[in-house]
Amino acid sequence: MRASGRAVERPSGRAAERPSGGRRSAVGGRLAATICLLAAVAAGCDERMRDQPSLMPHDKPLLSMPAGVVPVSGGEPAASVEEAAALENPVANVPEELERGALAYRRFCGHCHGASGRGWTVVGASLDPAPTDLSLAVPARTDGELFGIITFGAKTSPALGPFIDVNDRWRIVRWLRVLPTASSSAAAGTP
Ligand code: HEC
Repeated sequence: MRASGRAVERPSGRAAERPSGGRRSAVGGRLAATICLLAAVAAGCDERMRDQPSLMPHDKPLLSMPAGVVPVSGGEPAASVEEAAALENPVANVPEELERGALAYRRFCGHCHGASGRGWTVVGASLDPAPTDLSLAVPARTDGELFGIITFGAKTSPALGPFIDVNDRWRIVRWLRVLPTASSSAAAGTP
């Protein structure tokens, strides 16, 4: 019906032709743009990831490892309290080391064993068995054994090796040796 209507209209007036001509060119422009866009998209899709420039790290030979890079010594000196018993304390018996030992003791042992080492703390009183009185336990043990007890634990005393730097553990041992006298003079009245 529409086609026949147009055929009738065309010869009669310019008004009918002008708009239709304008529409034609607009449609043509849009069509061209669409084709361009499709071509661009198609070209883009055609590019596969494997064809694109990329970093292929394993295309290059691996770097050779210089000698001495992997440590094969210098780890933990012992694997049990028994093995640790004969170890010598590598930390010097000087005031600065003792001071650091006291700090580490307060941080890692004091809440259970108390500043004096006698176990008079709120936490200590809540434990069963109660923390050992260090003023009695320490003289009976070698430096190595004490280092081993700190590292691997003893009965219910926790294994603190993974949490305390190895030299700080030896410093704590230095501090344990002077603990009964140092704490009675320095921290009289505190647990
Ligand atoms: C969570 C509380 C707690 C902490 C923290 C703790 N201890 Fe103990 N410790 C105990 C208890 C409880 C015992 C008694 C264990 C038993 O008799 O079963 C004990 C026992 C010991 C003993 C005697 C072990 C033996 O062979 O009988 C030593 C020495 C000791 N602790 C040292 C330390 C030192 C040093 C630290 C800090 C590096 C430390 N403890 C941290 C609770 C603790």
